[in-house]
Amino acid sequence: MSASFGRRALGGLATFVLSSTALLVSAQTRQEYLLTTDWKFAKGEQPDAAKPDFKDAGWQTVRVPHDWAIYGPFDGNNDLQTVKIEQNQEQKATQKAGRTGGLPFIGTGWYRRKLAVPGFKAGQRAVLLFDGAMSDAHVFVNGKEVGSWPYGYNSFSFDITSYLKASGDNTLAVRLKNQSEASRWYPGAGLYRNVHLIVTDDVHIPVWGTYLTTPDITAQSATVKLRTQVAAGGARPALRLVTEIKDAAGKVVATSTSNLAAAGTPEFDQTLQVPQPKLWSPETPVLYTASSKLYAGQTLKDTYTTRFGIRSFKFEPGKGFSLNGQPRKFKGVCNHHDLGPLGAAINVAALRRQLTLLKDMGCDAIRTSHNMPAPELVQLCDEMGFMMMVEAFDEWKAPKVKNGYSQYFDEWSERDLVNMVHRDRNNPSVIMWSIGNEVPDQSNANGPIIAKRLQDIVHREDPTRPVAAGMDRYGDDFKYGMANMLDIPGFNYKPYQYPDALSKLPQGFLLGSETASTISSRGVYKFPVVRAKQKQYDDNQCSSYDLEACVWSQTPDEEFVKQDDIPNVLGEFVWTGFDYLGEPTPYDEKWPSHSSMFGILDLAGMPKDRFYLYRARWNPTAPTLHLLPHWTWPGREGQTTPVFCYTNQPSAELFVNGVSQGRQTKTKSDQPQTRYRLMWNDVKYAPGSIKVVAYDAQGKAVGEETLHTAGKPHHIKLVADRTKLSADGQDQAYVTARVEDAQGNLCPDAADQLQVSVSGAGSFRAMGNGDPTSLELFHKPQMHAFHGQLVAIVQAANKAGDAVLKVTAPGLQAGTLQLKVGAK
Ligand code: GAL
Repeated sequence: MSASFGRRALGGLATFVLSSTALLVSAQTRQEYLLTTDWKFAKGEQPDAAKPDFKDAGWQTVRVPHDWAIYGPFDGNNDLQTVKIEQNQEQKATQKAGRTGGLPFIGTGWYRRKLAVPGFKAGQRAVLLFDGAMSDAHVFVNGKEVGSWPYGYNSFSFDITSYLKASGDNTLAVRLKNQSEASRWYPGAGLYRNVHLIVTDDVHIPVWGTYLTTPDITAQSATVKLRTQVAAGGARPALRLVTEIKDAAGKVVATSTSNLAAAGTPEFDQTLQVPQPKLWSPETPVLYTASSKLYAGQTLKDTYTTRFGIRSFKFEPGKGFSLNGQPRKFKGVCNHHDLGPLGAAINVAALRRQLTLLKDMGCDAIRTSHNMPAPELVQLCDEMGFMMMVEAFDEWKAPKVKNGYSQYFDEWSERDLVNMVHRDRNNPSVIMWSIGNEVPDQSNANGPIIAKRLQDIVHREDPTRPVAAGMDRYGDDFKYGMANMLDIPGFNYKPYQYPDALSKLPQGFLLGSETASTISSRGVYKFPVVRAKQKQYDDNQCSSYDLEACVWSQTPDEEFVKQDDIPNVLGEFVWTGFDYLGEPTPYDEKWPSHSSMFGILDLAGMPKDRFYLYRARWNPTAPTLHLLPHWTWPGREGQTTPVFCYTNQPSAELFVNGVSQGRQTKTKSDQPQTRYRLMWNDVKYAPGSIKVVAYDAQGKAVGEETLHTAGKPHHIKLVADRTKLSADGQDQAYVTARVEDAQGNLCPDAADQLQVSVSGAGSFRAMGNGDPTSLELFHKPQMHAFHGQLVAIVQAANKAGDAVLKVTAPGLQAGTLQLKVGAK
């Protein structure tokens, strides 16, 4: 086999994708490899699998990141739980099948791989860095255990130098184990994030070894403080650190040289001035890099790049949040870590697509509920401009689930927090840390004591950012005192308590750390149209009129009113941006429901109607004019079929088959919806078309939108998010397949089974239709359209060329799409 390695920039560093046969010669002092290929994998207990001579030829060959459970099959018995979900206000235990996605993630899995360390020699160090491993990782090199890390969401590293052989290949083995009843959602399984091998000189800058802050910023200059740790196995020589700060164009804008005597603290402190700094914000995500070179005498020992942004922010009592001096509110979403059809396996193109969709909606902030994110997400938030609330835990000492994090809390919480903060504290996107979500410890006197301990740890490791938590036990939060001691009191689903809370809170502000939890299925509309809580239907779907929520949650508009009317509310993080695997509320007890309905976008990343309600509010630069429901209702002729319009214009007129239904204007009333939506509640359905004409504040017609009754399904239309991909074997295009009639109208009830094939320089990766009850497997190339649509994921090959996607279905004209796969 020929040497195969790709190279890509990760956090500004050269990173190599290492195959076990790659012969990589490099003059660099630091080499970073991504261990992606040539992994062997087997499920179940495997005695002796850590040993180098273990025979793994019969194991499956996989590529990491890898989620062993996403390939299914779905089965309600995979993680059957008989539980009472307390935070959902349940009164008795009931059986729940799809609570964690109904996928086979429980149990043990082993990964093995040859570990070539090219050119490794005496005087060097080798470190393995795991971005996250699900879960309870035990890592072995040449048969010896080098370390373990229980929490599946955190990043961790081990120095493996003393475990490596002087020559020849080494063997890396990783054992992972997921317990039952350990999660409230689908956690994924396996080496679902990247694994890095980092080779340096013995004298080097360790993993996450820099801490960069920008304490003073003026229009003329920004002060950059860079603390750089140095590690050495033996006696440390005198060292010199030369740091250059480069702007986004790569121009050096500041330099500093510092010396460190042979003895003393192994840490450099450098202060640099960046002239006329360009500030980072969601709208201007400008990044700088600090490139440091470490010398002993004339010998270059290490190079290290710290990417950063220059921005300041404040949370002020009575004023709220400001970024770079500009007051603003968080227009945020909470997201779980899974990527729908990909499961938990991380992919940069998939993350970028999610963020692109959220950006278009006007979203400017992400809460990584309820755990540490993949580092790639943080890097993308830096680059694309999102503010982050990086969260650590869903549980402290008091459990929510039988085998959750509470079992590790005492021993591991400090280490977990330290790694979280060290990894991401140089990233400008991270604005605040969250130490927990709805921890039951809110309800006892120990809760605030734990909260203080955790908050102090975070402050010790990063004094520049505040600490938040998402609280849901309103009375107890004041009774026991958690609400008063957090830097940022975050409340989940408490818009009606905001005035009372603000009257009691010493902080002078509060955050909607988790809001709405409206439930809907894309393309599903139920009649009559009424506001409802915990409403269930025979088909296990929820209505997209966006009026349905849970007993503890609200419609979007109920939160909007409070955000708009009450000063010192810092903004909101909507539950959730995207649907996720698991938590199919309100159908927790109704298999085959196994994925959530809270998302503004569905599990395949297709926008639900709600997307446009948020877009109209959050995206001030693009016009939004969206009509719902669809207008193909055979059998509903003459029946009341309300029409809603989501727009950033104040008023609009609706026409059914050319007949005006009157003009609606957004108004304040005792119904929060009338302020944010235009609604015609008495429209009688007649086939044909509906048209809306929007008017601006001056009464000028500024846009119109028409929906037609669809005819018979005729052809498949393919719409790609991107048509040019990188030939790196990882890049992905997300192609929406639409079943349309002869005139190009979406057939909103089409459920044809679509068959997907990809030829040329790409392959079929997975697909999803957003149906939370579908048991079709994501990686199989056939799936039914759900309400006329699905999304197919095409993955680029390692070689350049054209990739051709073909989607067929009996009786429909096929859809074909050509994608260019080429050099970056
Ligand atoms: C919250 C919780 C989330 C999710 C959500 C559903 O209470 O923090 O993780 O369960 O409810 O509405």
